[in-house]
Amino acid sequence: MGVELNGLREQLLATVRERGGAVDALVADALRTVPRHIFLPDVAPDVAYRDEAIVTKWDDSGMPSSSSSQPTIMAIMLDQLEVARGQRVLEIGAGTGFNAALIAHIVGPKGHVVSIDLDPEIVGRAEENLSAAGTAGVTVLTSDGALGDRAHGPYDRIIATVGVWDLAPAWHEQLAPDGRLVVPLDLRGVQRSVCFEREDEHWTSRSARPCGFMRMRGASAGPDRNFVLDKETHLTLSLPEGREIDTAAVLEALAAPEREVRTGVSPTQMELFDGLALWLAIREPRWFALGSHEPDPRLAAAPLQGPPGATTAGILDDFGLATLISDNGELVAAGADRIADELAAHVSAWDGAGRPDSDGLRIDAYPAGTDVAAAYVIDKKHVRLTLAWD
Ligand SMILES: C[S@@+](CC[C@H](N)C(=O)[O-])C[C@H]1O[C@@H](n2cnc3c(N)ncnc32)[C@H](O)[C@@H]1O
Repeated sequence: MGVELNGLREQLLATVRERGGAVDALVADALRTVPRHIFLPDVAPDVAYRDEAIVTKWDDSGMPSSSSSQPTIMAIMLDQLEVARGQRVLEIGAGTGFNAALIAHIVGPKGHVVSIDLDPEIVGRAEENLSAAGTAGVTVLTSDGALGDRAHGPYDRIIATVGVWDLAPAWHEQLAPDGRLVVPLDLRGVQRSVCFEREDEHWTSRSARPCGFMRMRGASAGPDRNFVLDKETHLTLSLPEGREIDTAAVLEALAAPEREVRTGVSPTQMELFDGLALWLAIREPRWFALGSHEPDPRLAAAPLQGPPGATTAGILDDFGLATLISDNGELVAAGADRIADELAAHVSAWDGAGRPDSDGLRIDAYPAGTDVAAAYVIDKKHVRLTLAWD
């Protein structure tokens, strides 16, 4: 069994590396060593070693409230974090405790990891998992991660493994002067795992990678809204900012689009996930994401396919909606007349601009209200973000 599990871990590491994660040898060694299956006691070991996010708790509305994230994105974020032996690290979003155990492996016995989760039941399970895996050097706390943890700080590294809408002042206060912060940051409904360092009195990004985490709950939750349209498949429509929608009308419109507008653009999955989604998010206030956790017939032609669910994007206003579907890889805007045209026009403009993505994206975060000029400015409660491409 031990040999078999070692083989599964080696296979997972190879997949993660092929997908661009675990470039840092310390991260690779942690993935090779820490037993993910112990942190996922309810799934079979071969499932635990797939490169997939595994939901471990759902809320009453049908939204996931905790999971073990996809190993590739965990490894990419740990690469961004550049953790070293002996460091003190704060994690927001303990979940199963697996990521905390990876970090504990990297920092070693002279380091320390504090991992915070909002949900006491999840904290209890994380503690059990960490003890079952024999992981030392991790303190798990029940609290709102936006408050950080002053008692064990300052920290050399702070990482959030839950989507953050804002940059909490506590993270600025509790990070050591030359520390690094890595967070899945909301950019009007899409997320980028942004590695920030301090520069003068503001945060400046060192790298930004596409990701998709469940959102932070509690007092620091963002204004985004999620409407579960089907509890069986967890078909969910997500809006970057709170407004009501008529879910019955949405389902009806999805079932019978008025027309289809071909775009002649056939992007790769990564170009869609990283490029087009960001393009829509920062330019189109009416945009939404539509995704499922299980196969759903309404997403059978969605351009981003699982496993196991699917995802697409679209535009929704008071007059109807349009979504993107794929016809043999070509993007087609399907929906209400004018809106389908507008959605197709975004695809053409993005394609015409050379399909920009997060490559060369620089994000600066200034204290809210700072007078800064930039092509794209996104205001949060505590910070004003500026986006620019090199
Ligand atoms: C994707 S899971 C984290 C995965 C985890 N790092 C692992 O290795 O399993 C996100 C976690 O963030 C937690 N969470 C949500 N809002 C939070 C908040 N305000 N403060 C702390 N944790 C929060 C959720 O309860 C959930 O367990």
